Amino acid sequence: MMHDLSAIQTSFQEATAGIVSLQTLESVRIAYLGRKGALAAVFDALKNLPPDERREAGEKANALRREIEQALAEKKSVLERTEHESILKKEWLDVTRPGVKPLRGHLHPLTKITRDIVAIFSSMGFAVAEGPEAETEHYNFDALNIPADHPARDMWDTFWLQSSQKEITNHKLQIPNKSQKSNPKSRKLLLRTHTSPVQIRYMETHQPPIRIIVPGRVYRYEATDASHDVQFMQVEGLMADTNVSVANFKAVIQMFLSRLFHTQIEIRLRPSYFPFTEPSFEVDISCTYCRQKGCSICKQSGWLELMGAGMVHPRVFKAAGWNPKNIAGFAFGVGIDRLALMKYKIPDIRLFRSGDLRFLKQF
Ligand code: FA5
Repeated sequence: MMHDLSAIQTSFQEATAGIVSLQTLESVRIAYLGRKGALAAVFDALKNLPPDERREAGEKANALRREIEQALAEKKSVLERTEHESILKKEWLDVTRPGVKPLRGHLHPLTKITRDIVAIFSSMGFAVAEGPEAETEHYNFDALNIPADHPARDMWDTFWLQSSQKEITNHKLQIPNKSQKSNPKSRKLLLRTHTSPVQIRYMETHQPPIRIIVPGRVYRYEATDASHDVQFMQVEGLMADTNVSVANFKAVIQMFLSRLFHTQIEIRLRPSYFPFTEPSFEVDISCTYCRQKGCSICKQSGWLELMGAGMVHPRVFKAAGWNPKNIAGFAFGVGIDRLALMKYKIPDIRLFRSGDLRFLKQF
């Protein structure tokens, strides 16, 4: 038995001398202290010894176990320290090095100007309304007094969408007006050509007096140039009450423009035609880009068409379920991109959606 213990002690000392990793250390521990290890066999054999020899041998075996445990613990702490140091060396991090500065974004000029527009109209008591960009033919045309085959539809050529009844229901684009239910054609979906459909949608769910603006994206199927794009933004305005006149419209628009441009802006009203207003007019703004000398934006005229407007046609009130008697209102649709061209002196409308950072970083 004594012989066994000293053999175990010698072989343990030899085994630990060569340990260079924590894994080998663990296998040595198992070989000597494990359930089937060398010491376990010694303790097992104790029961076969006579009692007086058993006690002495037991004490010696226990002493050897403590010695092995202590030697393993010391070796472990040495190995752990070395391993830690080598990881630190490998994965060295210079915490004093300057970091990578994250790029900071900012608002798109169209978002900026839209927020300015909303703030100005809000201060004049206008609420903000919204409507879907995928619109039904009914709201975009029919309810605005532009029936199919009316030549006025040519003014707003658009992108038609393939649409199933399910899509119309999912997009909450149902037509509440009973007469329209029998006309499946009016349920066809399109990308809205203007924000005017929201006039109808809003009037259907509200009663006069109302004062709203509707900022949003619109689409046209037309050739592009410096002042025309296939996608742009409009803000619709609608004010309806018992006693609203063209004079109110002029006052509101003049106040709006002078506050947006921080200066007195010249505007001119030209008679025009929109099926949903009567009388109708175009509002032009003096070209701030070239100071009326003539440029590609104003097509050398010194004026830029900014908005369509007019007094709401009684048929539009009717289509929304209102009684047109004793009610009057003005409506307008301004091109937000055009306002931004003028305000920020941008030479081409197409730059807004070009994604060119050299352009966008200037705002
Ligand atoms: C309309 O869209 C009417 N819904 C406006 C209206 C509303 C009239 C309420 C009466 C009552 P128009 O097609 O003219 O009208 O467009 C209105 C404005 O949108 C234009 O004055 C112009 O500023 C802008 N606009 C029109 N087409 C484009 C385009 N292709 N690119 C950029 N802006 C455009």
